[in-house]
Amino acid sequence: MTQITEIAPDIYRISTFIPEGNLQFNQFLVRDEQPLLFHTGMKGLFPVVQDAVATLLVPATIRWIGFSHFEADECGALTEWQMLAPSATAVCSLVAKLVSVDDVVARRPAQALADGERLCTGKYRFRFLQTPHVPHCWEASLLFEETQGTLLCSDLFHQNGDVEPSTSADVVGRFKQMLVEYQQGPFAHYMPYTAYTEPTLKRLAALKPRTLATMHGSTFVGDGERALADLAQVMKEVLAGS
Ligand SMILES: [Fe+2]
Ligand SMILES: [Fe+2]
Repeated sequence: MTQITEIAPDIYRISTFIPEGNLQFNQFLVRDEQPLLFHTGMKGLFPVVQDAVATLLVPATIRWIGFSHFEADECGALTEWQMLAPSATAVCSLVAKLVSVDDVVARRPAQALADGERLCTGKYRFRFLQTPHVPHCWEASLLFEETQGTLLCSDLFHQNGDVEPSTSADVVGRFKQMLVEYQQGPFAHYMPYTAYTEPTLKRLAALKPRTLATMHGSTFVGDGERALADLAQVMKEVLAGS
């Protein structure tokens, strides 16, 4: 069942729990002059995500579709969304656009943003952050909504289980638990630990986000700078073994 929660003014978390994976898949809808959907979810989720979006705005009016990297849960239903919404344009990194998105899943050419470039949707202003290999994949990027301090952080802060929509309690402990579990099974090496990991997480922490909108698990509301510092420590411990 899909659950809708407003996690910041006019920013909605659309969440579907998939029991087989013990995992929530969250999309974020920004209700603004130019509506933005961050993550489409997989193709199979398209009907339920569309129905959820329809309770908040006319789905055909979606103008921007953002995502972090090229995976089914990030942009698998981009084609379906672009067939439904005639002005919907994907926004992603140049690497994502050139290497995968335009060829495989986009009905219209994606708009590549440069690191630090801003996308204004009306009352909201998103800063595009190129974050190679954070959380994973060469083409990875994130969006930071500057007026409310909301970081759309993709797989960072991933928590398993059918958890509450948002929390101000610790989510890094749950992230660590997931990472340790994944390391012992078929999902091992979920996230790489590279020379870019720590500087990238420090850069995100310096934004001092108030809301961390993760794709899997509860949105965290609170001291995002501290949470990102804790997350960096956990990733180092579990993934780099130090
Ligand atoms: Fe991912
Ligand atoms: Fe994901």
